[in-house]
Amino acid sequence: MTKRDNVRVCVPRYMQIGKGSLNQLPEIIKTLEPIKSFLIVTDKQMVEFGYVKKLQDILSKAGLKSNIFDDTVPDPTDTVVLNGINFLEKFKNEAVIGFGGGSPIDTAKAIAAMAKHSKNIQDYKPPSTFDKQGLPIIAIPTTAGTGSEVTHHSVIIDSKNNEKISCRGEGFVPTCAIVDYDLTLSKPRRLTIDSAIDTLTHGIEAYISKKATLFSDRMALDTIRLVTQNIYAVDKDPKDLKAREGLMLAATLGGLAFSNASICLVHGMSRPLGSNFKVPHGLSNAMLLPTITEFSIDHAKSRYADCSRAGNFSLPNDDDDIACEKLVKGLYKMNKDFDVPSMKKFGIDEKNFEEKLKNMATDAEVSGAPNLNPRVPSVKEMIDLYGQAWRAF
Ligand SMILES: NC(=O)c1ccc[n+]([C@@H]2O[C@H](COP(=O)([O-])OP(=O)(O)OC[C@H]3O[C@@H](n4cnc5c(N)ncnc54)[C@H](O)[C@@H]3O)[C@@H](O)[C@H]2O)c1
Ligand SMILES: [Fe+2]
Repeated sequence: MTKRDNVRVCVPRYMQIGKGSLNQLPEIIKTLEPIKSFLIVTDKQMVEFGYVKKLQDILSKAGLKSNIFDDTVPDPTDTVVLNGINFLEKFKNEAVIGFGGGSPIDTAKAIAAMAKHSKNIQDYKPPSTFDKQGLPIIAIPTTAGTGSEVTHHSVIIDSKNNEKISCRGEGFVPTCAIVDYDLTLSKPRRLTIDSAIDTLTHGIEAYISKKATLFSDRMALDTIRLVTQNIYAVDKDPKDLKAREGLMLAATLGGLAFSNASICLVHGMSRPLGSNFKVPHGLSNAMLLPTITEFSIDHAKSRYADCSRAGNFSLPNDDDDIACEKLVKGLYKMNKDFDVPSMKKFGIDEKNFEEKLKNMATDAEVSGAPNLNPRVPSVKEMIDLYGQAWRAF
């Protein structure tokens, strides 16, 4: 099943990983070309939590100037990116720091690319890839979910056409990533769970992807292992530092895994659900993961069985059939254990959902992600899958 045996891997130049690594940012900055002024790209909540002040203090103590752009939104748009570029130009910042969840980090990546190159988001639309250098990007994640700090993706909505564009290329890989789990301690339960299930989905999808490689496989299985080892512990005690550390590392490994393989059908179908009904990214994955795993599993049994064993859903000596059965059951159980709401409970109107089904399935197909799934669905099958997920729990 592992088909690609020769791959080019693109990763950040530096990753500072572990407790308190935010404090080491100035040391890392010194190793880059001289940069004196940074645009911190973040959201209002990160300012309210006092995180942005902490970051600015660390920078100013090291004699580094920074300005704040805190107008990022949960699903970043090109309009927000262009506003960020206006800030950057006004303050003459030389580099960007994406500080927060995947949304501010993706916004920062797009600002860094578009400030130096085309300002039309359509120019970054797949299949074209952006491999040029933009401004230096420092990514500091605080949600432990998307892995955006190490990926070559940035998901931006073209607001004119309401089209979600998954920009990709080496130009979107951050120059440095600061992976400090201290920053995740303030996460409320829903965000903690949803981002962990996003990470779990990255691990599973990277492993079952048609673009999986030996390199991505190792990180994918560790991603699955670390999520399932720590998600119950952190739910029991949100201050469990070991568990927070495990989930943060899982997110980064998951980013490396899917960035060097791919995401598949779950992400392909979850993005339209997110953009049409404002379902947070991790939660829309959670709503679909069990149903889509059940749909796909017979087409890559041994791969899914490996995921099952890595995640301790099954025993090491269970055969593939049993391991697959236990994986599907385990994923449904996780959703129940962590109170993942059904789409209906989340507040999606059934009639509106039904009216949008065809468009959502078509958007999923256009994203290209379903094609990399072990079982490639037709648009009609995707409509059925949305319906099954609606009724699943
Ligand atoms: N580039 C990639 O490789 C990639 C991969 C997956 C997802 N994404 C994108 O990432 C976005 C989702 O990112 P996300 O799930 O990290 O959420 P997010 O960035 O949208 O943040 C969600 C909320 O969590 C809050 N928050 C962040 N850190 C917090 C903390 N430590 N404590 C308390 N609250 C905190 C934020 O203020 C915000 O209100 C989507 O736009 C998705 O498309 C990108
Ligand atoms: Fe994701």
